Amino acid sequence: MAETTRPQHLIRLSDWTPAQIDDLLELSLRTKRRGGRAQLPGKTAGLLFFRGSLRTRASFEAAMNQLGGSTINLSAATDFWELESQVGSVMDGKAPEHVKDAAAVMSAYVDVLAIRPKPTGSSWAVDRKDADIHTWAKWARVPVINMESALWHPLQALSDLMTLREALGSLSGKELSIVWTNSPTPATGSVVNSLLHAALAQGMRVRVAHPAGFELDAGVLDEAESLARAHGGSVQCGLSLADGVRDAHVVYARSWMSLEDYSNPTLAATRRARQAGWMLDEKVLALGRDAKLMHAMPVRRNLEVSDALLDGPRSLVYQQAENRLHSQKALLMQLLRG
Ligand code: CP
Repeated sequence: MAETTRPQHLIRLSDWTPAQIDDLLELSLRTKRRGGRAQLPGKTAGLLFFRGSLRTRASFEAAMNQLGGSTINLSAATDFWELESQVGSVMDGKAPEHVKDAAAVMSAYVDVLAIRPKPTGSSWAVDRKDADIHTWAKWARVPVINMESALWHPLQALSDLMTLREALGSLSGKELSIVWTNSPTPATGSVVNSLLHAALAQGMRVRVAHPAGFELDAGVLDEAESLARAHGGSVQCGLSLADGVRDAHVVYARSWMSLEDYSNPTLAATRRARQAGWMLDEKVLALGRDAKLMHAMPVRRNLEVSDALLDGPRSLVYQQAENRLHSQKALLMQLLRG
């Protein structure tokens, strides 16, 4: 049987080489300046959401529309069958369709498939494997883009790198602080994991400030150490809020779950309730080096970050959200042109 070439997927940013990421960032910045209209006429992106989104869905649709293509947008809540993902399973349960079949069928209709899976929330050991997005990538015959799994959010990281470059120019040696903030609806560490690795691959010096019990995934931290060694940056974790922010060029706020009580919402709420001081305001940011504020959004105003800081001149949050559009246009052009 003839060997088929596997499509290039984007499950995590490090699936792509540093040179490919540099090209993507250059194209993102050029696309922002010039627009890059109608480069993908006749191309279709299939977007499958297993949970909600504002920025990712809207920016992806806008990107395809502006490039002259179109999208098919499907929500698991209303639009398609419950899916089985285990290979070889006897499908006598709730799910009437297998991901293998859905992926093969969708591959005949669209040129790229973007998926936002839903972690089970019942076991970090299980969810950290990101099995669902890997299963789609295994069976699809078109590129699969991860629109945020339990472990990674490569689209956000791409936009974050673009925003960091706009704000700081060369990133090597610059100080990035990632600061845990308090929220009753924290996400997984996907945004932080992706940003941490992306920033270290650019040679940045990264500090992560968080309360005890909110340590990042051990596997992600091991890779972070290797990236810091390989690219001349550094990584320090578990700092206090003040030590995290001091002398930073950019402070990135994000709330993430404790992995110690990942599957126990009651314990998680009790742990979070003890961390009320973890909010960013102008006074805290003043510890930085003329520091800018970033946040992937959605952001809880006056709980994670104060109104004055979010709406003030140091805030890059809307620029970051806008850059989702430009960087995803660049990604789609790289994947679909030619
Ligand atoms: N930052 C981000 O991915 O936003 P949404 O969850 O609204 O898509």
